[in-house]
Amino acid sequence: MASLLSLQVVQRTFIVLTLGTLISAIPPDLTIQTNYGQLRGMDLGQSYGFWGIPFAEPPVGDGRLREPLPPVPWSDIRNATEHSDGCMQLCHEPPPACPLTWSEDCLYLDIWVPKSGRTDYPVFLFMHGGAFRDGSGGALLYDSRLIAQEMDAIIVTINYRMEAFGFVFLGDVYDPATGKIENVVNLGLKDQQMAFKWTKENIAFFDGDPNRVTIGGQSAGAQSTGVHLLMESSKDLFDQAIMLSNPYSLPYKTIEDGRKLATAVASNIGCEDVLDLECWRAASSQDLLDASRAATNTGYNPNELLQLFEPWGPGVGEFTEIPEEVTEAYQKGQAQRKPTIFGSVREEGRLYIFLLFQQTLPTLRYRLFLRAVMPAIFPQLMDLYPADRTPGADQREILSELATDFIFHCSALNATLGMAEHGHLDYYHYVFDSAFSFEEQWTDDFKMCWGHVCHGGDLAYVFRTPPLGGVEFNEGEEILADHMSAYISNFLHTGNPNVAGTEELKAKQAQFGGRRPHWPRMTEKPNNYYTMYYSTCSGNTVLTNYREKYCQLFDEFGYYKVPRLNSIDEELFYEEPFDANGNEL
Ligand SMILES: *[C@@H]1O[C@H](CO)[C@@H](O)[C@H](O)[C@H]1NC(C)=O
Ligand SMILES: *[C@@H]1O[C@H](CO)[C@@H](O)[C@H](O)[C@H]1NC(C)=O
Repeated sequence: MASLLSLQVVQRTFIVLTLGTLISAIPPDLTIQTNYGQLRGMDLGQSYGFWGIPFAEPPVGDGRLREPLPPVPWSDIRNATEHSDGCMQLCHEPPPACPLTWSEDCLYLDIWVPKSGRTDYPVFLFMHGGAFRDGSGGALLYDSRLIAQEMDAIIVTINYRMEAFGFVFLGDVYDPATGKIENVVNLGLKDQQMAFKWTKENIAFFDGDPNRVTIGGQSAGAQSTGVHLLMESSKDLFDQAIMLSNPYSLPYKTIEDGRKLATAVASNIGCEDVLDLECWRAASSQDLLDASRAATNTGYNPNELLQLFEPWGPGVGEFTEIPEEVTEAYQKGQAQRKPTIFGSVREEGRLYIFLLFQQTLPTLRYRLFLRAVMPAIFPQLMDLYPADRTPGADQREILSELATDFIFHCSALNATLGMAEHGHLDYYHYVFDSAFSFEEQWTDDFKMCWGHVCHGGDLAYVFRTPPLGGVEFNEGEEILADHMSAYISNFLHTGNPNVAGTEELKAKQAQFGGRRPHWPRMTEKPNNYYTMYYSTCSGNTVLTNYREKYCQLFDEFGYYKVPRLNSIDEELFYEEPFDANGNEL
């Protein structure tokens, strides 16, 4: 009897799977059966779109500050033709990265399916950036209608809760709504996991291959990816990873940091007891968002200088699944061994330094700042990052280089080279160095990025969305985007950026102008590391030991040794450095 039953289950599964694969290649009527109900998508020209698909129960009411639950099934046909709201936020990004509307009911994902008629597309699930405070998978910047076709892969973009809604860190707390102790930390990461699960279980209905899922993201999305690579509970949900600009040296929160920040938010919404979930849930969405912003803008003095850049974010250590600081875990070889592409853009630090120092940074202050922040290596820093001696020079330029190396480039190399020392060799590293020709897209708020390769400057090429916003690539940019798509497509299909997924893709890639050299693994040969250098100027090239001497210094110093913010004289940041006549003080 038992065996008969299991045989029936096997047969049923088999039938469902075969029907799934036989019937689709999508139309009739663009209607798809999923495990939760039917969806009707739309024809977007280059690909099919299925937007605003719920992957969790709306986290509203008692769902606030609670782990996400599976979506509620529906019975009629759901129109999947509009983006959902983004999650609660005050969006600080350039407009194409922002959602048009937001609310707490935001746990939805968007899917783009190519039209090439396959029934086993590889899947790229992308998590947007925005410092765990803003952005949305439905924003125009991530519209994947073109790259789905170009890469012949299904693209999934997702939302996840941010600010206090997604990253409040209380630990284990009694929840009157469930009558149980609940774990309140990293809810935004758990939202992401729900989206991974949904994708694993439903993507075959869209002709996707559930066993070839690459997760990835940029900035906070890359940080999330880096953390999922350490989480046992995420391990079976994806196969490969792509991390665009993961600032590996930003410290994550411990329960002490987390409770402190949470207490500031709670007090802003009038909750005396930070662990009183009913009180948290009584606040309106907008009030909680305001309280979350206020706590990070003024009330909260971050423990660490670098947390200033990202007050909300993952928690690690006690009460979490992540045993310790992420970079240290990588150094010890604890990340999952999955093929991974990672890298950074040439001037990652620029945006941050120009936001931190809003005026010209004179030489004296540059020296004082470095001495306060990294006293142990101050003399070596002055050698490697010498101040510009031109009279009146702005030392934010050189400080940006230092920040790029320390926060992004060297720390990421350190983490992955650490994994390599433990025998995981499947990393492909890049540096992206191309300032886009349509610089005004950065808007006036980000003028420091005009003509520069700022954090996020690679996304226009990865997603190829400028034409959707009425902006055209020039010829060199088009070629660069073609090659980047080819490497990424190859990686999604085969786990190797050099090997095309199909003969058709291989033939298409052979037609591209410009250079697409063989991209060696980071540690293809011992004693060196290799980097794909993406550039419109020099053409794509492979570099050996890029910025090694800079990284050696930071490896020596360590990535978590930046002192507490309150030990640094605040005047360094805020006081006007000039007298009334414009002379340096
Ligand atoms: C879905 O869209 C179709 C076509 O625009 C419309 O007729 C239908 O009423 C919509 N269904 C729902 C449930 O909104
Ligand atoms: C990474 O940094 C740590 C701490 O600074 C250092 O001890 C270690 O040798 C570095 N690892 C690699 C592979 O460079």
